Amino acid sequence: MNDMGTASGDKRAGEKTAAKVLLRALAGEVCSPPPIWLMRQAGRYLPEYRALRGQARDFMEFCLTPDLAVEATLQPIRRYGFDAAILFSDIMVIPHALGQRVWFEEGVGPRVEPVSAVGELERLSLGGMGEALAPVYETVTRLRRELPAETALIGFAGAPWTVASYMVEGGSSKDYIKIKSWAYGDPEGFQKLIDLLVEATSRYLIAQVEAGAEALQIFDSWAGALPDGAIHRWSLAPIKAIVRRVKEVHPAVPIIAFPRGAGLYYRDFAQDAGAECLAIDTAVPLDWAREVLQPQVTLQGNLDPALTVAGGPALREGVARILDRLGEGPLVFNLGGGIVPAARPENVEALVAQVREHRG
Ligand code: CP3
Repeated sequence: MNDMGTASGDKRAGEKTAAKVLLRALAGEVCSPPPIWLMRQAGRYLPEYRALRGQARDFMEFCLTPDLAVEATLQPIRRYGFDAAILFSDIMVIPHALGQRVWFEEGVGPRVEPVSAVGELERLSLGGMGEALAPVYETVTRLRRELPAETALIGFAGAPWTVASYMVEGGSSKDYIKIKSWAYGDPEGFQKLIDLLVEATSRYLIAQVEAGAEALQIFDSWAGALPDGAIHRWSLAPIKAIVRRVKEVHPAVPIIAFPRGAGLYYRDFAQDAGAECLAIDTAVPLDWAREVLQPQVTLQGNLDPALTVAGGPALREGVARILDRLGEGPLVFNLGGGIVPAARPENVEALVAQVREHRG
């Protein structure tokens, strides 16, 4: 138990009210009001982010420059006082650190020189990871010093399936045909890529905790592309392996898993992944989530990001619905997906105010 200062440690010491509200909720406490932060809370909907973004030539350089990444992380905290900051970085730093060429195309997203068969995996190596990711760890350490005392710091990584989808498809995909052809045609070979990503991601998350991250989120944005059986093998099993690896070293660090689009399989993630919290996407029915998932894990979510664009009564109603359905169990208020560039800052302000007024 060398993770004192986290929620479970404080709880044992009888000082649970001193722990940060995000950590209390992740430890299973019903908090009223619940903690709130928003996925992709640092980003292009903020004018101060767009100004800062102009200071780096490309997005990967932006993520790997601690001065810029620290500032981007802090911007939404200053503006809204969220209960958690999420490290500013991207899931694509892992393929970059493994030696794959990664770049971001304006209006398109991440691009890579694809690996498409087991023979090409020798182009990737764990050897250079520590050095390539050192700027991320520096960012985490500086954030722990600079964040307000009540704000928890969340580290993160992409899950193996989602990161592999970019690595194999060469960028975003609509149908996942290349990666699925490999996974279905040569499952043992494809398993080697997933195993490499489990190893790299475990080391990366452990190093983030050692640098100062207090909670971790694993984003499996494209889990929903996988059918029965395949979602267990390529999404749930690697996430579970990473959770186990991280907890071998840091048993008390809370972990949030986000298997976006997992549908009814969310139940299997709640039972098996070993994560304290599941982030639910916008399609997950609230009553089902309360009855089936919330008795087992803290829930995080799941407001439609489009409501931060639309605002008005629909936003108020959407927020009230989640507080009403999920507010009596352990909850971290959040969106059901990343915030969008068209979000209006004044709607985000209204959303935070409404959640903070909530009393269970
Ligand atoms: O949440 C935060 O504020 C922290 C930063 C963060 C970013 N990406 C910054 C970013 C986090 C947590 C991510 C995760 C991420 N990156 C995911 C998983 C979450 C999700 O949204 O599903 C995925 C799939 C990626 C890969 C990625 N990075 C894509 C598909 C894109 C392009 C899409 C887009 O929104 O433009 C990116 C670029 C990216 N990552 C931006 C930001 C702020 C926008 C690029 C820019 O500012 O120029």
